[in-house]
Amino acid sequence: MSSSEDVLKSLVSHAKEYGFVFPSSEIYDGLSATYDYGPYGVDLKNNIKAYWWKAMVQIHTNLVGLDSAIFMHPTTWKASGHVDAFNDPLIDNKDSKKRYRADVLIEEHIEKLRLKIEKELEKAAQRFGDSFDPEMYLKTNPRVLGYAEEMDQVRAGMKSALEEGNLEALRNLIVELGVVCPLSGSKNWTEVRQFNLMFATELGSVSGEASTIYLRPETAQGSYVNFLNVQKSARMKIPFGIAQIGKAFRNEIIARQFIFRMREFEQMEMQFFVRPGTEMEWFEYWKAFRIKWHAALGLGDSNYRFHDHIKLAHYANAATDIEFNFPMGFKELEGIHSRTDFDLKAHETFSGRKQQYFDPELQESYIPYVVETAIGLDRMFLAILSASFKEEQLEDGSMRTVLAIPRWLAPVKLAILPLVKKDGLPELAMRIFNDLRLDFTCQYDEKDAIGKRYRRQDAIGTPFCITIDHQSLEDGMATLRDRDSMTQERIDISELNSRLHERLDMSRLLQTLTD
Ligand code: GAP
Repeated sequence: MSSSEDVLKSLVSHAKEYGFVFPSSEIYDGLSATYDYGPYGVDLKNNIKAYWWKAMVQIHTNLVGLDSAIFMHPTTWKASGHVDAFNDPLIDNKDSKKRYRADVLIEEHIEKLRLKIEKELEKAAQRFGDSFDPEMYLKTNPRVLGYAEEMDQVRAGMKSALEEGNLEALRNLIVELGVVCPLSGSKNWTEVRQFNLMFATELGSVSGEASTIYLRPETAQGSYVNFLNVQKSARMKIPFGIAQIGKAFRNEIIARQFIFRMREFEQMEMQFFVRPGTEMEWFEYWKAFRIKWHAALGLGDSNYRFHDHIKLAHYANAATDIEFNFPMGFKELEGIHSRTDFDLKAHETFSGRKQQYFDPELQESYIPYVVETAIGLDRMFLAILSASFKEEQLEDGSMRTVLAIPRWLAPVKLAILPLVKKDGLPELAMRIFNDLRLDFTCQYDEKDAIGKRYRRQDAIGTPFCITIDHQSLEDGMATLRDRDSMTQERIDISELNSRLHERLDMSRLLQTLTD
């Protein structure tokens, strides 16, 4: 088993043991690619949502929120192109009977070539030492150049096959590259077929008639069909945006890798309406803002990279992904798309209702262009969990498992721990707990030895522990223990509240986004 699989496995079992994520309907052996969030998971999720919402809607005075319904009129999905074009090209391996996305198999082949280049660079860096110039090496080493050329060729082949919808060419590429099934190791592939990802269900009317409706595959369309409602009711002027957080559903064929790819998941999406012709400026603005939002959490800048789309979706004239270094490698975390006027124009055509904005400065009406930012809440959750999960050896040789979750997002912010269960320590600790729990999510714990209690808090990512000892009764001071450095400082109990606000308030984090 590869180490990345090991890491993911440890993460899945830690998430279950400590109440972050459970397999759905587990007593019936679970339902594939469906998960439930446990007591700490739901708080972490809520904190991520709060960070996104405040950064988008609170910081930007030209953004407003919306919570549209999951069910929409079926024509919505005809207009948006999802009925006809929301397909994945799928291919089956005849030996393992496993189904794959053809484009993902090819992307994985490209990733393998990229890793080969990285390996060459590492080896050369060791060989040449301080005098090593990686840029020069990339430009001149024949082996590296060969890999890079192959990557370009494969990308180009895939791009044209996808753009032309040429499924045969896609299959030929897989065969030519010698792609093997990760499970059976065989190259025995079926044809490539298109598969629509929307879940359909029946809407029963009073008279007993039924019509097919879909579970929304994205929240975005709810914002488009409400564009004029929002613009008029909130008196918005272009440029302005509509933000939404909500569930989306896709009948993913290859649903695996824990909560990375699910059939029911949550999106945090923002649609920004702009004057036609200014969309690229705004595309760049949102790219910069979104990467800043990620970087502010401190999970490590090298864990993120942009990946421009090879195949643009039917609605886009520019698109990039923010990829995150998950345990299984760099994968899409967020998409930023310049969606042109495709959606509003289509809704105008299909509904017969004008979707135009009268621009008072230009004294003319037009259908706005849209720049979208779309991030999966569950993927963000996984990104945080995987970057935070650490198994560390301590000075005394013992091990601790710690979730170094960015402190503003941690499900429990503070644990209040009396050193012993007697001598008036629990009473003082409880008074502190009752004072602090109004401002922070706190836990009170008096069971087991203090070291064991610290380990329990480390495992759920609590950034600070406050320990009350006998001296606290005399000098009114408590010990504040930091989760990451494990340093301890004595703090006047009366100052705890203000000192903790300095470290835990989300407004401090948001401040860094406005600099
Ligand atoms: N409105 C545009 C849109 O939906 P997308 O790239 O298909 O774009 C946006 O989805 C984000 O939603 C992705 O970047 C990803 O984080 C998340 N996402 C998409 N499919 C998902 C799935 N099956 N499971 C979990 N998250 C998913």
